[in-house]
Amino acid sequence: MTRKVHIKTYGCQMNAYDSVRMAEALAPEGYEETDDPAAADLVVLNTCHIREKAAEKIYSELGRLRLLQNERRANGANMKIAVAGCVAQAEGEEIIRRAPVVDLVVGPQNYHRLPDLLRDGQKSAKAVDTEFPAEDKFASLPERARQRTPTAFLTVQEGCDKFCTFCVVPYTRGAEFSRPAADILEEARRLAGFGVREITLLGQNVNAYMGDGADGRGWTLARLIEALADIPGLARLRYTTSHPADMGDDLIAAHRDIPALMPYLHLPFQAGADRILAAMNRKHTAAHYLRLIERIRQARPDIAMSTDIIVGFPGETDAEFEETMQVVREVNFAQAYSFKYSPRPGTPASTMDDQIPEAAKSERLATLQSLLAEQQKAFNAAQIGRTLPVLLEKPGRKSGQLAGRSPYLQPVHVTDHGGEIGQIVLADITESSANSLSGVIISGTKETKVHINSAPPASGETAGTLLRQ
Ligand code: 5AD
Ligand code: SF4
Repeated sequence: MTRKVHIKTYGCQMNAYDSVRMAEALAPEGYEETDDPAAADLVVLNTCHIREKAAEKIYSELGRLRLLQNERRANGANMKIAVAGCVAQAEGEEIIRRAPVVDLVVGPQNYHRLPDLLRDGQKSAKAVDTEFPAEDKFASLPERARQRTPTAFLTVQEGCDKFCTFCVVPYTRGAEFSRPAADILEEARRLAGFGVREITLLGQNVNAYMGDGADGRGWTLARLIEALADIPGLARLRYTTSHPADMGDDLIAAHRDIPALMPYLHLPFQAGADRILAAMNRKHTAAHYLRLIERIRQARPDIAMSTDIIVGFPGETDAEFEETMQVVREVNFAQAYSFKYSPRPGTPASTMDDQIPEAAKSERLATLQSLLAEQQKAFNAAQIGRTLPVLLEKPGRKSGQLAGRSPYLQPVHVTDHGGEIGQIVLADITESSANSLSGVIISGTKETKVHINSAPPASGETAGTLLRQ
């Protein structure tokens, strides 16, 4: 019997990856994916708990789903509702108490058990599974069945042992766990077999990766990247998200030595004042962060830096906020995410004295974001006149256009001169805006026809990618 499942994803890229894997776990049960919740026999909300706003969204969505469920029931059909992800993990049975419409609550470590839970749920009224199991959930999930886009996420590490005092992740995702390298390589080869050209390695603390190596030794993220770079067809590798304390020498060197490793790094620093960093339990100072960036730029001078910043952590003074601004000025980010501190139940910072008033947080965020927007605009504008390799990912918004990404992760819109999705073409960058670039394809339609000698050394990727063909 075919049934339909609608999965709605909130939050980070790891949730996006998990949603794909949930769909794959449900496929053998006869579930096909649908974009339309009204047509679904099962709706899964894959939730985010990182900030209060993100968690509250779930309850309003559940209110809307209750109406849809009533409509389906009136038409003689049913709709089960499951809550997965970090709200499921953090709130467990409380979700069913607050929203009785929910049939099933499943934490991120238990997606491989979804089919069983749904079957059990047919007998018992409601099912809740938020235990941290001993088994490796990835090993228990079915193999990746397909991938339609030339870019894919691949989770290599989950959980976090850092316990930043503002953050729920160590509680919702549990202790750090690294997948064995052999499993990751196998999944990456499958993805390459489906035509994937770019893989982003995911982990809450991805650069703390320490997995069983294919050679019986412990592998770092750098070693894993080196092995992945040898997989035929894979032209681009990225990883996210990193912690400054785990930025090992070998990983920095990988940015110099491995052409497939893209010149883009998301490295959160959160705050610029050492007193706040200590209260956040960040394990680095502002000077340590700045020195690290200097070393990374020595290894890869054109690297695009990205970060996460929190304003209004408890006790943050105006002068301390200014120190955050100073770090931003010194680094000059290509892009960044910035947030108002949001107290999360159960975290140490939520009960600290001197919580900052909302108005002050909003003001600081606006000041910070206008500086970050300026930096991003300038970084994009600096690409005009350059020739960049662009991985074509999808049709553009306007007809006659294709959309792809530069090595620096900027969206690039190019005129469609017969380039094909999945190809890496060279494009002359002609325009830039706050968030994207526009360009004209200058290479032949086939990558193999590109004359690499005439291409400017825009990035290490140019030669590496094209020689591989
Ligand atoms: N309040 C605001 N921002 C937070 N983040 C994590 N927890 C909180 C919180 N309680 C931000 C951090 C982190 C990103 C994923 O979300 O900057 O790096
Ligand atoms: Fe949260 Fe800190 Fe772990 Fe990042 S390193 S997931 S901010 S606890």
